[in-house]
Amino acid sequence: MAYEKTFAMIKPNATEKGVIGRIIDKYECEGFSFGKIEYTWITVADAREFYAEHKDRPFYNGLVEFMTSGPVVLMVLERENAIAYNREVMGATNPDDAATGTIRELWADSLEANSVHGSDSSVSAAREIEFFFPDYAADVAIAA
Ligand code: RTP
Ligand code: MG
Repeated sequence: MAYEKTFAMIKPNATEKGVIGRIIDKYECEGFSFGKIEYTWITVADAREFYAEHKDRPFYNGLVEFMTSGPVVLMVLERENAIAYNREVMGATNPDDAATGTIRELWADSLEANSVHGSDSSVSAAREIEFFFPDYAADVAIAA
């Protein structure tokens, strides 16, 4: 398996309720290291572009509103098989379907406010790292 980088974000519902530390602890316990980590607010324009793949879905405007409703934590996570493994650590999109012990099972509040984002493919990981950390992306080879 290849050593990879993936992009992850702690969403506003999780920063709001004070579980940033517990989520970061979970990533560390699962063997990830951090290439980048930044606490920030994202703009409406960035949220719209970041989630552009969903622009025709009925939940798009609500998703953009939610993602800009509070601070987030932007991260590059690294380990063997990081992209697929992080999707397992996150759990299913809908917390009702998320496996026991996953981040979404533990800290999601709803289908929309589901605590974390994670890249879903090597193409997404490269795009998303470049989107928020262009200088970092330019300096490192992003393993596919
Ligand atoms: P993400 O992109 O945030 O990591 O989540 P995901 O891959 O598991 O799910 P995706 O299908 O990409 O959906 C993106 C985010 O949109 C919100 N959502 N709301 N109200 C709804 O029906 C609905 N469906 C999705 C969630 O915040 C989801 O994570
Ligand atoms: Mg997605």
